[in-house]
Amino acid sequence: MFKSIVFQTPTIYFGIDTIKAIGQEAKKLGAGRVFLITGPQVKKAGVLEKALSYLQAESIEVEVNIQERDTPEPATDRVEEAAAIAKKGNFDVIIGLGGGSILDVAKMVSALMTNPGKTEDYFGREKVPRRGKPTIIVPTTSGTGAEVTKHAVFLDRTNNVKKVVASGSLLPNVAIVDPMMTLTCPPPVTASAGIDAYIHAAEAFLSKNANAITDTLALESISIITRWLGPAFADGQDMEARYQMSLGSLMAGIVLNNSGTSLVHAMAYPVGGEYHTPHGVTLSALLVACFDYIAVVKAEKMALLAQAMGEPIDSLASREIVDRLLNAIRHMIKSVDLPASLNDLGIKRETTNVHQWAVEAHKEQRLLSRSPRILSVEDIEKIYEKAFV
Ligand SMILES: [Fe+2]
Repeated sequence: MFKSIVFQTPTIYFGIDTIKAIGQEAKKLGAGRVFLITGPQVKKAGVLEKALSYLQAESIEVEVNIQERDTPEPATDRVEEAAAIAKKGNFDVIIGLGGGSILDVAKMVSALMTNPGKTEDYFGREKVPRRGKPTIIVPTTSGTGAEVTKHAVFLDRTNNVKKVVASGSLLPNVAIVDPMMTLTCPPPVTASAGIDAYIHAAEAFLSKNANAITDTLALESISIITRWLGPAFADGQDMEARYQMSLGSLMAGIVLNNSGTSLVHAMAYPVGGEYHTPHGVTLSALLVACFDYIAVVKAEKMALLAQAMGEPIDSLASREIVDRLLNAIRHMIKSVDLPASLNDLGIKRETTNVHQWAVEAHKEQRLLSRSPRILSVEDIEKIYEKAFV
């Protein structure tokens, strides 16, 4: 009843043209010399030039590092390569400018500048002892929340498995969330990142770690994403949609960092690992089956979720409310061309070893320990089966 809460966020700039603050903030953090990590798409979209102009206005020296990628998650060897350059260059501040993967690389490069060893030494919870070099993180998509979280996800090249570094030392110093930076984000990425944000808010809202502060942010974020994901997907130049999605996704990221995700994310790991489907797309295929399974222990919160999505639920029985909620989720997913089941994702039940997936997902106890319903390997197997229907 009297829950203690620890609430962590970076300094946050949110709003149109907040990118202008990047130079002054870098200066405040001691730059000097900045190592700016970004991706080829960001460079092409002209977003990089904008950031560089504000850094140059403060007479800051910048080395740009473009991360080319051949896997959905950044591979650990690429992180090590970038970290080696950063260490040699003795930079004062690391900037990440891009989608979630680019931002994760920037966070880890910063950590490797002050901690010995390689990325793989830090997989797991709270393994990074020292904070890295100061970071400024600027997302160009609305969804991953990487700008306000202590997590970074990588592909471990040694065994081809997705792994997470979850450590307070990785929390960025400054997050700059400028909707203008997301205008060129293509529709499929807008959709998959947007649904990822929805799931961060909704899963954390239902998790055992939820608290009064994150619940308030989660419900507001869910209501914003439900209203604005469709318009942002349909017309990337719709400024209001981009503004609202940036805000909703930022809120969801804060919720993720402070209350954490659970079942949907845990179950997505083996699927994404095998099929290399994008994070948000994989989550989307599992979401309805997962929420259906935990609904029985979270009736009140399911009702609040349905209301936040604009569903009229007065005088409905709790099972009917859950049906409404799941239908609303299904509708949102389909309206942005995402899969609402594993079948939709193109995965065939006959060629899938569901038991093996369940064994793998069950190992994600960092996530499953927050699930409102206790889950055995068999339970997880049942949910995968349902996700095929
Ligand atoms: Fe996620």
